[in-house]
Amino acid sequence: MSVVPSASNGKITVPGILQRKSGVHPGNPSPAKITSLTAYDYPMARLLDEAGVDILLVGDSLGMAVLGYESTLPVTMEEMLHHTRAVRRGTRRALLVSDMPYGSYHTDAAEAVRNAIRFVKEAGAEAIKVEGGERRMETIARLVEAEIPVMGHVGLTPQSVNAFGGFRVQGKTEEAGEQVLRDARAVQAAGAFSIVLESIPRDLAAQITAELKIPTIGIGAGPDCDGQVLVIHDLLGISFGHQPKFARHFAEVGKIISQAAAEYCREVQQGRFPADGESYHRSAEQRGTKLLVK
Ligand code: KIV
Repeated sequence: MSVVPSASNGKITVPGILQRKSGVHPGNPSPAKITSLTAYDYPMARLLDEAGVDILLVGDSLGMAVLGYESTLPVTMEEMLHHTRAVRRGTRRALLVSDMPYGSYHTDAAEAVRNAIRFVKEAGAEAIKVEGGERRMETIARLVEAEIPVMGHVGLTPQSVNAFGGFRVQGKTEEAGEQVLRDARAVQAAGAFSIVLESIPRDLAAQITAELKIPTIGIGAGPDCDGQVLVIHDLLGISFGHQPKFARHFAEVGKIISQAAAEYCREVQQGRFPADGESYHRSAEQRGTKLLVK
């Protein structure tokens, strides 16, 4: 189900991502920034993998981007496994990371390990992501002990939307900034191989990036992180509703889809689709003769 890494196939691996930490490896003080995008299905995974994206994240943003939920909270293990399998089938080079959905790692560490193992065994994930810092130390440590590489996620953790009272930038006051820093340190101490910093001030992200030995991957955290991640639907301009300011549209695919669908409707209604050249034909001799079956 997965692509086994070897020295020659260019496969992105967890140790390879650790090597991309800036300023840590004397032979390579400024490695290329890590690129990550979300993917939820086979064609998108193939396109992003072939475009050279380093990490494909089957984010639980699936709930909002694809399934039409208002938050990530309703997303289930089965939904995440189903979409991870589809992404697995389209991914060869990139590292495949899956988000553990809300409720799948919040009760106890043993259940977290059981659920995380399903991502690896049943869906081909190479690492999983969990949200939270100090509160998740034991869980992260237990997952790492079970040979499951963990990506942490601190700052604006969308699964905490009710506790935060909305999707708000985190770490803006001194006290709140210190908490984000403590959370990031806890994630590293527990053994995570990388950490997402979401929606925090640029200078806080820069300080965390300078201090940690694991790569930081920012989303709404400024340009000083070791890498960046975006939700693919935001990048392509196929998201609805409020867009945070960091969600740059690199294309307006939503408009292209709407135009193509409207043109299709026009052509069908006016009898111009399908054309004769888009239709199948019998042989030249048979063409035009009526079948006489009773
Ligand atoms: O679910 C997701 O897509 C994420 C990224 C935005 C980091 O957690």
